[in-house]
Amino acid sequence: MELTGIRGAVAIVTGAAGGIGEAVARALGASGARVAVTDIEGGKADILADAMRATGADATAWALDVTRSDQVERVVGEIEERLGPVAHLVNVAGIVPRGPMLELTDDGWDHVFGINARGVFFCLRAVGRRMLERRKGAIVTIGSQGAILVRTSLAAYGASKAAASSLTKCFGLELAPYGIRCNVVHPGVTSTPPALERFGGDEARFHAHHAAGDPAIFRAPIPLGKAGRPEDTASTVLFLLSDQAGHITMEDIVVDGGATMIA
Ligand SMILES: NC(=O)c1ccc[n+]([C@@H]2O[C@H](COP(=O)([O-])OP(=O)(O)OC[C@H]3O[C@@H](n4cnc5c(N)ncnc54)[C@H](O)[C@@H]3O)[C@@H](O)[C@H]2O)c1
Repeated sequence: MELTGIRGAVAIVTGAAGGIGEAVARALGASGARVAVTDIEGGKADILADAMRATGADATAWALDVTRSDQVERVVGEIEERLGPVAHLVNVAGIVPRGPMLELTDDGWDHVFGINARGVFFCLRAVGRRMLERRKGAIVTIGSQGAILVRTSLAAYGASKAAASSLTKCFGLELAPYGIRCNVVHPGVTSTPPALERFGGDEARFHAHHAAGDPAIFRAPIPLGKAGRPEDTASTVLFLLSDQAGHITMEDIVVDGGATMIA
């Protein structure tokens, strides 16, 4: 079954320059969306948009730091002016700092919450307001397995992703009477290029290492026997944006090969 409601629709992807954001942008582009490829790394967003256009996709790049509400408002306005009414927003921009909780600094806490939670709020508000006027739209925020599982060295990250998930679903409740849907996709460990780099690019070793889990750091094994790929998350996002998910809102979908196993 072909997904409908994507072709020709304007979609904003934040943090689109690499990893999961790139996979989401490419999947949207390949499905005929008019994609606003945004990232704090404007140069990398340009390169991706160029590469997408070379494959026939409709892609335009914007430099966008989601922690700056003035910039978010300006860029969303520019995207609407240039591409048309935004139908879809995918909040991907995020960072994954690691370290023991007792060593976390005030600035470290503010930094991760600034991008992973406050940045999501700025984007939800700027785009949600416009969607509400039109009584139309779908939003997906990329959370993390870390928002659900309790893990060592990921306290601030997990808390920031739990905040982003809660925010997105609260927006979903307020926007539901206007037909606007807001969902959260939580990836587990995913084979993004930087993650693979730590394994010398050896994908088989990367998947085997993560599938086994690590009791010493309370990392759960993955029942499906492999880590995720950015495309696994992207295809779930596309479904949630499509008409076929038209009765799904305020939902958390975990894409982690079963590692969370919430009964
Ligand atoms: N890779 C994983 O295993 C994994 C697992 C669970 C969740 N996630 C989440 O998926 C998302 C993407 O992660 P990834 O692994 O692809 O990482 P990534 O580093 O490849 O991508 C993140 C992107 O966000 C951009 N970014 C950072 N700060 C920004 C800001 N202030 N404004 C706009 N853009 C900004 C970066 O430039 C980068 O392009 C993140 O939210 C991450 O928390 C990743």
